[in-house]
Amino acid sequence: MSKIKTVFQCQACGYASPKWMGKCPDCGAWNSFAEERQTPKSLKSTGRYNTVSAPQPLSAITGGKDKRNSTGINEFDRVLGGGLVNGAIILIGGDPGIGKSTLLLQAVSKMAEKSGAVLYVSGEESPEQIKLRAERLSINSDNILILPETVIENIINIAGDLKLSALVIDSIQTVYTEEMTSAPGSVGQIRESAAKLMFFAKRANVPVFLIGHVTKEGAIAGPRVLEHIVDTVLYFEGDRGHPYRILRTVKNRFGATNEIGVFEMTDNGLIEIKNPSELFISERPLNVSGSTVIASIEGTRPLLVELQALVSPTTFGIPRRTSMGVDFNRVNLLIAVLEKKAGIHLGGMDVFINIVGGLKIIEPASDLGIIAAIISSFREMPIDSKTFLFGEVGLSGEVRAVAQAEVRLKEASRIGFKNAIIPKGNAERLKNNFGLIVAGVKNVEEAIENIKI
Ligand code: TYD
Ligand code: MG
Repeated sequence: MSKIKTVFQCQACGYASPKWMGKCPDCGAWNSFAEERQTPKSLKSTGRYNTVSAPQPLSAITGGKDKRNSTGINEFDRVLGGGLVNGAIILIGGDPGIGKSTLLLQAVSKMAEKSGAVLYVSGEESPEQIKLRAERLSINSDNILILPETVIENIINIAGDLKLSALVIDSIQTVYTEEMTSAPGSVGQIRESAAKLMFFAKRANVPVFLIGHVTKEGAIAGPRVLEHIVDTVLYFEGDRGHPYRILRTVKNRFGATNEIGVFEMTDNGLIEIKNPSELFISERPLNVSGSTVIASIEGTRPLLVELQALVSPTTFGIPRRTSMGVDFNRVNLLIAVLEKKAGIHLGGMDVFINIVGGLKIIEPASDLGIIAAIISSFREMPIDSKTFLFGEVGLSGEVRAVAQAEVRLKEASRIGFKNAIIPKGNAERLKNNFGLIVAGVKNVEEAIENIKI
């Protein structure tokens, strides 16, 4: 008999060690090690590695393009890069209660209608609970098969016998393989189960959706190991207080990352928001200081969002800088540029920055907007409500060109903006100004002059 070995694995990153440790040397998490039993198994017996493939010339391989199936929800297709690829394995993460199960039930009901049977495996809810949700969403179909099961081998056996158009696992933390003795939800179990599902997806050519829980820090629990295995990682985000939900692509082997789909949670499920720009600036107060609109690009989609700044005198000692929706360090850097290059002294001022609607903007094209909003609030001078801006700001106060200027201008013009303040480098290369009055600016000072604040 072979000896049973145990290893201690970090539950945050999957690092394995023969001994327990207080701090993970790999990811730095504290108290994250759990004991997992490793049963030595021969690779052959699992049947995973014993299919031998022959090499074939690239030119002889067909397919690739036009092999996408719609999920029936446009915003969902968009984040997937234009539809579902057969055999793809997609991980959807998000806070509890954000609407992951709702989104997938709505998507599978469309797929069941169009392309045939869908298997919805639930380890979290009973079939009755799923039925209750389906009734609320007015979903009913013979083609949606509900399976309350948590053993991965059984799931794959059952799925293998059916002709499926999709398989949903709700959630990956509740399923486990009998080959391992550690508890469901541990790193080893998650990794093994996901790997088995991946082999199933590729072999049966069926798209597989995995629902994943996130940890308190917001990463998918069990995790980075999982993100490597799957083809696509989507995050479902949003404030519990707001009805808006954003589905964001974090990784995608078949399309752009950072693509977003916008939904609203209503009493009868999620509905798609086709024109999010209008939504994000709809409640904008006009002619108030500290508010401005930036034209940003999320994935491949232009998005106009309202950016707000509040600058007020510090009451106790050290000034506070807070940012929501934009990188905190970037805000500090821009404040330093303002001090040094534009002579605006914020030393005794608290500065708060917020992107309205719970959105997060990562691209540096928002720099010029942040600067304009701060000055506008500092000087108590509103920015014209028909003006929008974009541009990256460098450390010497220069305004640098950004990608896809025309796409941004076009979207703003569609919504009814009149004046654009953009980097000179972009302005010089414009082929079309979409009826806008475009001002190309070289540095922060020129931008301030043009905004008239
Ligand atoms: P759910 O899909 O169960 O979330 P998750 O699977 O991510 O944990 O959705 C839960 C929340 O959504 C719950 O608080 C109720 C709300 N909800 C609606 O507002 N409208 C609806 O039609 C449905 C089905 C749920
Ligand atoms: Mg759920």
